[in-house]
Amino acid sequence: MISNPTSGPSSSEGHGIGPWGLSLSGVGIALPEKILANSDLTAWMDTSDEWIRERTGIAERRIGGSTSGLATEAARQAIEDADVPVDSIEQVILATTSPDHICPGTAPAVARELGLQCGAFDVQAACSGWVYGLVVANGLLLQGMNRVLVIGAESLDRITDYHDRGTGILFGNGAGAAIVDRDETGAGRLLSWDMGSNGNYVHILYAEHGDVLKMDGREVFRQAVTVMQTSATNSLKRAGLTVDDIDLIIPHQANIRIVEAAWKKLGFSMEKTEMVLEHTGNTSAASIPLALQSALDKGRIQPGTNVLFLGFGAGMTWASAIVRWA
Ligand code: UT7
Repeated sequence: MISNPTSGPSSSEGHGIGPWGLSLSGVGIALPEKILANSDLTAWMDTSDEWIRERTGIAERRIGGSTSGLATEAARQAIEDADVPVDSIEQVILATTSPDHICPGTAPAVARELGLQCGAFDVQAACSGWVYGLVVANGLLLQGMNRVLVIGAESLDRITDYHDRGTGILFGNGAGAAIVDRDETGAGRLLSWDMGSNGNYVHILYAEHGDVLKMDGREVFRQAVTVMQTSATNSLKRAGLTVDDIDLIIPHQANIRIVEAAWKKLGFSMEKTEMVLEHTGNTSAASIPLALQSALDKGRIQPGTNVLFLGFGAGMTWASAIVRWA
């Protein structure tokens, strides 16, 4: 059952939807080789490695590559991981806030590189984009599709001023992808989801055409803590779960202090949280699938594990989804 939005003018919700389950049957990532360490930044701006680590949790980020190139690499790995034929993919969804071009979308180029001519479109929901994509993929599975590729990919170095200490310390490039399959057994499942936006906050994080990201960091911080709290609470409620029922949380990786502040209010623990921020920086739509790969590598996800994905970003947008692993 899909319920109509009831919790406000710009909020969408879902719980227990669909006769079929969903399975993330393959995951892959891509990071460019070039590392931009905090110590590199001190040559261009008045900052220090110590300040950046303490105030954000970031030690380094990656730069270079293109959004389509990184997305394709991550997608190829996810396809290999799932061990499925490329041509069984029926839809490509690419979440990005740094597309190769303003027009067309970047997803068709990724599909081309993979040898696909299926539907391919971009999702622009900033750092919430990959979770938005996952929810949309679930909807397509409910419409009859069997296999959707959901990618989050960014080349934020093209819209970041690495001389500006308000933004340059945060952003980096990367990509993560998942093969999202219909699970006829229903063992794996999107238990609930929540998506929202508040366009009154467009001005706190934006980039004009041809320009770099501008941000009111303190206000983004404040709003992020609030919307993470609200969205996680909504998804928990809709799934009929409590904080203790969540085995693993994969939050958007923006600033470790944002996560810690939100968790204090929510009652989540950092032990149950997967973080890759220290070595990736903020990779916007790529950050959640990058952390997902890390959690899988560590064996933190098993059949039946309840995973909470929780994102927020420019817009403001926010999204959360609880997946019971197949
Ligand atoms: O995906 C969503 C994207 N964005 C975010 O999630 C960003 C959210 N915001 C943040 O992460 C933080 O606001 C920042 C990391 C951007 C800034 O940290 P903050 O703790 O909010 O710093 P602040 O702006 O409140 O500044 C505190 C002090 C100031 O000095 P005074 O006035 O106390 O003397 C700043 O001038 O730190 C100074 N400062 C810095 N010092 C060294 C600000 N940025 C830096 C810097 N290096 N890079």
